[in-house]
Amino acid sequence: MSKKIYIRTFGCQMNVRDSEFVLGLMLKHGFAQAQVAKKADVILFNSCSVRKHAEDRLFSNIAELAPHKKKKPELVIGLMGCTAQYHKEDILKKAPLVDLVCGPGDEGNLPALIKDVLEHRCPVIATANVDTPRIEQCPEYRESHFKALVSIGEGCDNYCAYCVVPYVRGRERSRGEKDIIREVKDLADRGFKEITLLGQNVNSYGRNTQYAIRDTRYERQTTGFISLLTRLNAIKGIERIRFMTSHPKDASVELFKAMRDLEHVCEHLHLPIQAGSDRILKMMNRGYTAKHYLELIEDYRKMVPGGSVTTDIIVGFPTETEADFEETLRVVKEAGFDSAYMFKYSPRPPAKSAQLKDDVPAEVKQKRLVRLLNLQCAISKKRNEALRGKIVEVLVDDMHRKDRGVLTGRTRTNKVAVCKGGKELIGSFVKVQINDVSPHALKGRIVV
Ligand code: 5AD
Ligand code: SF4
Repeated sequence: MSKKIYIRTFGCQMNVRDSEFVLGLMLKHGFAQAQVAKKADVILFNSCSVRKHAEDRLFSNIAELAPHKKKKPELVIGLMGCTAQYHKEDILKKAPLVDLVCGPGDEGNLPALIKDVLEHRCPVIATANVDTPRIEQCPEYRESHFKALVSIGEGCDNYCAYCVVPYVRGRERSRGEKDIIREVKDLADRGFKEITLLGQNVNSYGRNTQYAIRDTRYERQTTGFISLLTRLNAIKGIERIRFMTSHPKDASVELFKAMRDLEHVCEHLHLPIQAGSDRILKMMNRGYTAKHYLELIEDYRKMVPGGSVTTDIIVGFPTETEADFEETLRVVKEAGFDSAYMFKYSPRPPAKSAQLKDDVPAEVKQKRLVRLLNLQCAISKKRNEALRGKIVEVLVDDMHRKDRGVLTGRTRTNKVAVCKGGKELIGSFVKVQINDVSPHALKGRIVV
């Protein structure tokens, strides 16, 4: 009988895609998918290391498996992704139940690594290939039949002062354009309707060439992100193209024009601002001022009417004063984000800011976060209010988890929309007239 694998994913879309990739690979190598962790022979955690909080949760999740592992000592517990790369062999001290540690650059070898643990019953560590270009070895396996995540690059060269990504995901490298187009054409042929292009910094796609010299799979790029969008937009069958994450220093009016002119590219821009104070932005090594950021938003709104903007914000970066934080509030008000991910700063060595004293007290960070959350909540509600009575296109994702007979999906602007309907509509486009809104969702009824 085949061994069963279960993968639990925390973190960003990149991790979601990596888990899908690894599961596909394992299925190809004769494993079966366990529906619940308890039934599995191998449990893999794929976890994020960007913030300390996520990591603490991961370790407590692993520790909770202790009674299960006692009953089933042959169970293999593995950790893959950024946290594995971050702690490497130290994981074995922090989480003694773990048998396997595999960084993002080594995930293509997981079938062999898992076999090794199963045969030799000793811990295996694979974290040497942090900068290795990855080949998409099994793009055919997908969890959805209509929406797909497509990686267009990996790693990051920006070295924002707070961020651990360049250390755990390696140097920035773009995947070859031909390879991406081949994958998306294949998805279109299989009936997929939406793709989301993924990378730590998608709009610098194609700019780095160092890997082209070392590895032909990453051929020298002659074109950039807009050209890639243009070519993908021409692929018949793909109705929606999304992308994330963009960096303000690489976003431009040309990108917004492309979003306006390419009919399949969705009107949603995720553009992390991180802070509103220029002093803090400088310390963060972000490469732009609040004024420049707001000008970008202004250009975007002019160019893409009705488009949405979302962002990421950190509160309590070292030395952040009340006045700095007020600047963040001011910029958030002015930008009018549709929604935002908001975080309390945590030091993540070897990221540079970890050398600075984490001097904003925990309770001050908490208070600032709550003030920011409340402000953003009111803005999100107002932005959604403007859609009341309007008809929007929704791609239906699933049945609502709690409300029976209710569907949930996304608008082109990436807002959650719910409406009554049957499960036969999952994976199709419907037109929904909005008759109620909350800060986080639109409610309506299907009109077509
Ligand atoms: N502390 C708090 N938030 C962080 N982020 C990245 N590093 C840190 C950190 N050390 C946030 C940023 C980033 C998002 C993915 O996580 O806002 O855009
Ligand atoms: Fe981290 Fe900055 Fe790179 Fe984003 S752009 S992954 S925040 S270093």
